Amino acid sequence: YLLGIDLGTSSVKTILVDQEGRMIGSETAGYPLEQPFPGWAEQNPKVWWYATVAALDGLFKKSGVDPRQIEGIGLSGQMHGSVFLDENKQVLRPAILWCDQRTAAECEWIEKNVGPEKWNRWVANRPLTGFTAPKILWVKKHEPEIYRHIRHILLPKDYIRFRLTGELATEVSDASGTLLFDVVRRTWSKEMFDVLDIPADWMPAAHESHFVSSVITSEVADRLGLKKGVPVVGGGGDNAAGAVGTGVVKTGRVLVSLGTSGVVFAHSDQPLVDIENRLHSFCHAVAGKWHTMGVILSAAECLKWWRTNVGQQEEQIAKQSGRSVYDVMCEAADTVPPGSNGLLFLPYLLGERTPYADPDARGAFIGMTLRHDKAAMTRAVLEGVAFALRDSLEIMKQLQIPLSEIRVTGGGAKSKVWRQIIADIMGIEVVSLAVDEGPAYGAALLAGEGAGLYPSVEEACENFIRTEDRILPNPERLQRYDEYYKIYRQMYGVLQNQFH
Ligand code: XUL
Repeated sequence: YLLGIDLGTSSVKTILVDQEGRMIGSETAGYPLEQPFPGWAEQNPKVWWYATVAALDGLFKKSGVDPRQIEGIGLSGQMHGSVFLDENKQVLRPAILWCDQRTAAECEWIEKNVGPEKWNRWVANRPLTGFTAPKILWVKKHEPEIYRHIRHILLPKDYIRFRLTGELATEVSDASGTLLFDVVRRTWSKEMFDVLDIPADWMPAAHESHFVSSVITSEVADRLGLKKGVPVVGGGGDNAAGAVGTGVVKTGRVLVSLGTSGVVFAHSDQPLVDIENRLHSFCHAVAGKWHTMGVILSAAECLKWWRTNVGQQEEQIAKQSGRSVYDVMCEAADTVPPGSNGLLFLPYLLGERTPYADPDARGAFIGMTLRHDKAAMTRAVLEGVAFALRDSLEIMKQLQIPLSEIRVTGGGAKSKVWRQIIADIMGIEVVSLAVDEGPAYGAALLAGEGAGLYPSVEEACENFIRTEDRILPNPERLQRYDEYYKIYRQMYGVLQNQFH
């Protein structure tokens, strides 16, 4: 068996997969997101570890699988977060997470003192508040006492690796999101460390994602009941591992993830830098491959927000009919014509990353009239999220990235109505998967390659990942949506000054 561990933002998910890629069991354990000040987001790495151990105990108990039969472990997790360790490898302060917005001043400093020409050449990406390097500069300025004691910095999932193996290491896909990694050459950027005056030896060695850099310690083997010497592979940042887990390992395939946040992720065989830095250019978790990615900060979260505030009646209907409240809401939305009778929704409820990199962007319903009802507003929410995702896709088209098939994943992907809207707005076939276990599944497949069970993770993807449902765009609706999209595109610019 193989074990996949995905350290998410609200919980850790652990899964067991057999040699043929079949799901055997899964177990999650949650933890809180600490927000001590507005815009801050922190978690205690030790809590991640306790949750991981609890989830693994539960997984083995529930599945009845003897943990001694596990051949390999793969890790995945929330990207960009920083775990600060001292010389004894003790945690110095809570980890600062990907969704933390405190580093605006540090990003500005980098913009002024480094600039696009250099950051594109050195690390292929622009500074963003969520990325790791600005967080290090923030600690240097605001917590000099802590800064003085830093000897090692880890990404979130790599803290779990450290607790499993005692080793400090990372892999290329997650390292790509630090702003310290030369994505094109797949190695740390000495230039960036120098200009930011951050000691390069604070970051661990970065390997390819399937590489076995260490094995579990004997204490961990005893505690969890695993056999000694189980290999732990590099794994991947959650989006790269999610792409492996959905088979987005080939040119032309695109992953659209409808989770709390939304992602458009395109595989590429060559490194591809968006010199305007609207998209992220990162290493893929597939050896020697890359990806470009746009991230919207609220995707399925918009629908959740909408349900929480106005969905009481639908909750009742759902309870009575044994369906999910989201199905009830989306079916009502499906009775409204495309374009929601002229109603537009901007989904920037948490600010926006791609393409605006604007933490102050805000959501809006635009074009409301007396004839609009709840169903029309629900449809506008579903369409608004799809339009926001299309912004990333349009940039990919400009960069001439081949785009032939969208694979959808995440909670929102369960809605057929939403999948059809995405196909009609994106103009590309949308495919859903028979098994959608997300990044944990990709991590498990990487472990399989590392443990020598499969020749390559690409081959494992082709053999094990089954598509379930294919939705083609409807040409008429696509044309209609093209018109609405043009209007959508203008609305951020129109409202931008009101947001600040
Ligand atoms: C990617 C990103 C998010 C986190 C969420 O750039 O910030 O997708 O990885 O877990």
